[in-house]
Amino acid sequence: MNIIDGKKIAADIREELKLKINLLRENKKNVPGLVTIIVGENPASQVYVNMKIKACAEIGMNSKLEKLGENISQDELLKIIDDYNKDDYFHGILVQLPLPKHIDEDKIIEAINPSKDVDGFHPISVGKLIIGKDTFKSCTPFGIMELLKRYKIETKGKHVVVVGRSNIVGKPIANMLVQKEEGANAIVTICHSAAPDISYYTKQADILIAAVGRANLITKEMVKENVVVIDVGINRIKDAESKKGYKIVGDVEFDGVSKKASWITPVPGGVGPMTIAMLLSNTYKAYSLIENLN
Ligand code: GUN
Repeated sequence: MNIIDGKKIAADIREELKLKINLLRENKKNVPGLVTIIVGENPASQVYVNMKIKACAEIGMNSKLEKLGENISQDELLKIIDDYNKDDYFHGILVQLPLPKHIDEDKIIEAINPSKDVDGFHPISVGKLIIGKDTFKSCTPFGIMELLKRYKIETKGKHVVVVGRSNIVGKPIANMLVQKEEGANAIVTICHSAAPDISYYTKQADILIAAVGRANLITKEMVKENVVVIDVGINRIKDAESKKGYKIVGDVEFDGVSKKASWITPVPGGVGPMTIAMLLSNTYKAYSLIENLN
């Protein structure tokens, strides 16, 4: 078994971006800017957002945290997004999800200028992804593609089984892998909770991507020898031995499955760190396109 070290690859990507941004500063150019908008006090969202702000600072990217009260109206939020759409200092706009119930998430995502859609959630970005046009790609699946590429894991002609059909991971990763292009060309199956027996599908996987959010769902009996395993799950389970009283595990039962896998991502330290690295990368891309650097 070999470990796919997402923490290291994410650090490499951040370092690459930092060098590019240093160069821009030396040449007295503008640098990329990301605004992160958070509404309300969701504790998990606050943790994620703070990680994003810190990551921007570490690579010398401009960033701003726009903290808004839980009771802000949808119209007020739409107005704020529109102001950032027009603000040249920011090349990327990220609205942290979930939003409070009285706000229509789809309307908010659609209000972001697609050229600043660094989350890749806008229907225009998603549509372009499906038809194989260059666009912003959702950060977690884009990070998985980058891991496969940097570890030179062959996808062409391989059977990839994706467990989970979310708009953020399952659907976009399937669409990225099926493209007729270098680093893709896979045969893709998406399976989900309506499958009578998930293991019927997972046993056929050359590459298995687990993105359901159920701790230890995938066990060694459900995979074949030499499978490549990408574990997207981040699940908290009780752990009496840990000081915090819990630990983070993936969707894959690591100890068992890793004995059969040729390659596997650990949790934590696998896919997780790639999400923020790709957000930074997307923001750099937005900057390059807006500033006509390409
Ligand atoms: N909430 C959980 N994951 C994400 C993400 O990748 N982007 C945004 N905007 N919100 C999230």
